[in-house]
Amino acid sequence: MATIVITGGTDGLGRALALHYLDAGQTVVVVGRSRAKFEALAAGAVAGTAHFVAADLTLVAENKRVVETVTRLVGAVDVLILCAAYARWDRVETAEGFEHTFALYYLSRALLVTGLRPGLVLNTSVPGAARDAIPHDDLQLREGFAFKTANQLSRRANELLGLHLAQGPGGTRHILYSPGFVRSSHAGSLGRFARLGVTVMAALLGTPPAKAAARAAALLADPPAEPHSAFDRDRRVELGASAEDVAEAEWLWTRTRSLTEPHG
Ligand SMILES: NC(=O)c1ccc[n+]([C@@H]2O[C@H](COP(=O)([O-])OP(=O)(O)OC[C@H]3O[C@@H](n4cnc5c(N)ncnc54)[C@H](OP(=O)(O)O)[C@@H]3O)[C@@H](O)[C@H]2O)c1
Repeated sequence: MATIVITGGTDGLGRALALHYLDAGQTVVVVGRSRAKFEALAAGAVAGTAHFVAADLTLVAENKRVVETVTRLVGAVDVLILCAAYARWDRVETAEGFEHTFALYYLSRALLVTGLRPGLVLNTSVPGAARDAIPHDDLQLREGFAFKTANQLSRRANELLGLHLAQGPGGTRHILYSPGFVRSSHAGSLGRFARLGVTVMAALLGTPPAKAAARAAALLADPPAEPHSAFDRDRRVELGASAEDVAEAEWLWTRTRSLTEPHG
């Protein structure tokens, strides 16, 4: 039996993956904000063991509490699936002073991967960001925030996180994964008309969550041997790892440590 932790497991792709693994009889820890959504999910599962950890993953303190709670609840984690998402079209700072996209899509993922030390990570951050996507002197995008800039920054940061893990003692295999266009809740601060547009597009063109989950689970059942790899659905994406990339990965990791362990 495997133990699987899924952030954003209350909705969309994460929810479909939670159901997939529960129906296969596994132990699944869902991390999200809505207990009501979790209870509806657990009621629909036919097997397995479901746990819920409520948390706002935009906060560093909450991510650390999640690591402690999950470890106490289930011990070692086999697979960590990172699906928590909330698209911010405006610049919002968390109570801890981090830009929201940076906090939820990067810091949270870095803290959970390094805190839980799972055997395998599926990080649903779309691979292939621009190499110069991180403004080193303005990680919180206080100048020149745009949705696209924040999105590229977090995607590049997740690529560098995988590269950092690959330089370390090993033990965790990290897969960056784009699920393609999935018919999900597309959580975010979209206006009414933009949301209607996304919902219609997703209904017409999006992959049903259960189908996207089956595809992701097939990859997790037979993952690449390398410590860091990337996929766009079934297609392997080559990221490359130049000396400059490795140096930037170590730079980012040092910055991440100083932001999350300011007295460490
Ligand atoms: N859908 C697509 O077409 C698509 C395309 C490319 C990549 N992806 C990636 O695939 C992953 C899953 O996306 P999705 O569209 O399936 O997600 P989704 O349906 O929008 O669901 C988002 C999930 O994130 C959770 N969440 C949001 N803010 C949170 C917070 N502050 N703390 C804790 N949990 C939070 C939500 O939990 P609550 O509802 O409980 O708050 C929900 O379970 C994401 O990483 C996304 O970037 C999706």
